[in-house]
Amino acid sequence: MTRATVRLFLAATAAAGLLVWGVATAQVKQGKMRKAATKYLMRGINAAHCGGLAELLKAGPKNDEEWDTAACHASCLNEMGYLLMDDGRCPDADWANAAKTLREGSEAVLAAAQAKDLDAARAGFENVTKACGACHKAHKK
Ligand code: HEC
Repeated sequence: MTRATVRLFLAATAAAGLLVWGVATAQVKQGKMRKAATKYLMRGINAAHCGGLAELLKAGPKNDEEWDTAACHASCLNEMGYLLMDDGRCPDADWANAAKTLREGSEAVLAAAQAKDLDAARAGFENVTKACGACHKAHKK
C-alpha cells in the first residue's frame, strides 16, 4: 500500500466506526420510527411520575384520592416499562433487565395502592428506583 492508500484506508475505517457508534447511540436516544426522544419520555413521564410517587409515599397517601393518584403514577411508570422495549429502542440486556424491573416494581406499587398497603408500596417503589439507577448506570451518558 502506498502512504496515500493507507491514509484513505484509515479514514474509511474511522468513518465506518463513527457510523456504527451513531447507530448504536441512536437506538438508545430515539426509537426507529416513533418521534419521541428518550430524554423527553424520561423528563415528561418517568421523572414526573417517579417524583410524584416519592412525594406521596414519603408521608403516605392521606385519603382515597391520594391512593388513586399513587395508582395513576404506578400505572404510567408500568407502561414506560413496555414502551422502552418498543420500536428498536432496547440495545442490550442491561436495558431489558432494567425495563423488566421497572415493570415489576411499578406493578407491585399499583397492587399495593389498590390495597392501600403503604409498606408494600414503598417496597415496590424501591425496585422502581433500582430500575432507573441500573439503566442510567449502563446507558445515560
Ligand atoms: C431502560 C433504560 C432506562 C430506565 C429504566 C430509566 N431511564 Fe431515565 N434515561 C435513560 C437514558 C438512555 C437517558 C439519557 C437519554 C438521552 O440523553 O438521550 C435517560 C435520561 C433520564 C433523565 C434526563 C432527561 C433529560 O431531560 O435529559 C431523567 C430525568 C430520567 N432519565 C429519569 C428516569 C427515572 C426517574 C427513571 C425510573 C423511574 C428512569 N429514568 C428509568 C434510560 C432509562
